[in-house]
Amino acid sequence: MKEFRLAVVGLGHRGRAMFKEVCRHIDGVKGVAACDLDPDLWFKPIYRNNALSTPLAEEMPEVTFFEDYDEMLEKAAPDIVMVETPATCHTDFCIKALARNIHVFSDIPSVRNLVEARELWAAHQASEAKLMTGATTMGWGFVHAMQDLWRKGLLGKPYALEAEYIHDCRELWEETPWRKPAKPFGSVPCSYSTHSLGPLLSILDEELTSVVCISSGSHMTDLPYAHDYTCALFQTPSQVTVRMTNSYINNCRSGLHSFRVFGTAGCFEHLSHRGEKYPERTTFSTTGLTGAENIVELPVSFSPFTREVKKRYKFTGTFGHGGADTYLWLIFIEALRNNAPDMPVSLRDGLRMTLPGIYAVESVIRGGARVDIHYPWEKEAFQRDIDTLSARCTGVETAR
Ligand SMILES: NC(=O)c1ccc[n+]([C@@H]2O[C@H](COP(=O)([O-])OP(=O)(O)OC[C@H]3O[C@@H](n4cnc5c(N)ncnc54)[C@H](O)[C@@H]3O)[C@@H](O)[C@H]2O)c1
Repeated sequence: MKEFRLAVVGLGHRGRAMFKEVCRHIDGVKGVAACDLDPDLWFKPIYRNNALSTPLAEEMPEVTFFEDYDEMLEKAAPDIVMVETPATCHTDFCIKALARNIHVFSDIPSVRNLVEARELWAAHQASEAKLMTGATTMGWGFVHAMQDLWRKGLLGKPYALEAEYIHDCRELWEETPWRKPAKPFGSVPCSYSTHSLGPLLSILDEELTSVVCISSGSHMTDLPYAHDYTCALFQTPSQVTVRMTNSYINNCRSGLHSFRVFGTAGCFEHLSHRGEKYPERTTFSTTGLTGAENIVELPVSFSPFTREVKKRYKFTGTFGHGGADTYLWLIFIEALRNNAPDMPVSLRDGLRMTLPGIYAVESVIRGGARVDIHYPWEKEAFQRDIDTLSARCTGVETAR
């Protein structure tokens, strides 16, 4: 069986944990190279969770460390690169790997702006390698339950869908400064849309094609450019409506992710916990199943590891968001082994869940005006957007 040689770029909070765990637990993956601008993250102990960790260099002596990404690609020649750099800079790393026909597992969001989307899409089309979008929420058990209900027709056609991602991230600002709002429209919550839109788009057969979005502005801190809270309303061509609420500066101490689906034959809801006394709940109701016309609670949580899944894959332990990240790596490696024409969460999927959030920022900039959404596979319309929308959203640096 082929063994995949894995390299990672970005050894921060997430990259160091993911790299170690994937190499340890996923059958047929071998760590060969790691890269970060800061060599201390490889060679020195790191203070995390009130304790000093053993340096990765000691834990993984078989892995070669690089400070320069291009040099790593050249000298280590990995089969797969895991991209775990800040959310604002994934694309260049992905493009460089694809240009060498190296497979990519990229964390979210897929891109920062429309120009990056155009370039990454083109690089992927031209490459023999595949890109898997590391969209964690697609690995959760309750999301799989929602997809099962939909596939079996028990929800009917979803026509209104809702997602909330409420996470006070202020304690992460010091260690990950890219999360801290520092310039106008630099960090608008709706732009981190993949966690919310990924699961909902997986049960929609249309694209999101328009958005209105408003921001509360800054109330919680003395940062003038902060947007404490945004609420976006997306629509598809048949007027299916998606509401997405995001807030990363707040005093809310509930769980992070909630979802609701209104369908023509039923309703699904995952409500995150509301403190210890009120645990998370996943429920549904349907007209298609005797006994389930009223709310039925499903005993399903974050773990995707059903009996069937455990039987199907070889792994020695689980990691990452209740096992969701383990699951994504298992299906990614399986797809590569089977030479699948596309990945289970493909680049196209990643752009479908990333770009609407970027267009939502454009709506915020325009005071909540309706903005049409396009994708790189709609070449002319997408280029027109690049030529006309704000520099924040397009990535075209020249001031208009
Ligand atoms: N999927 C999830 O649920 C989830 C959760 C948390 C974070 N994330 C994503 O993971 C990614 C990493 O987040 P994090 O919290 O670990 O951030 P972080 O800032 O802790 O780590 C990023 C690392 O990238 C390194 N880096 C930056 N530019 C580089 C370059 N040119 N060459 C080499 N290294 C470079 C930095 O030095 C830093 O160590 C982000 O994209 C974030 O959105 C995803």
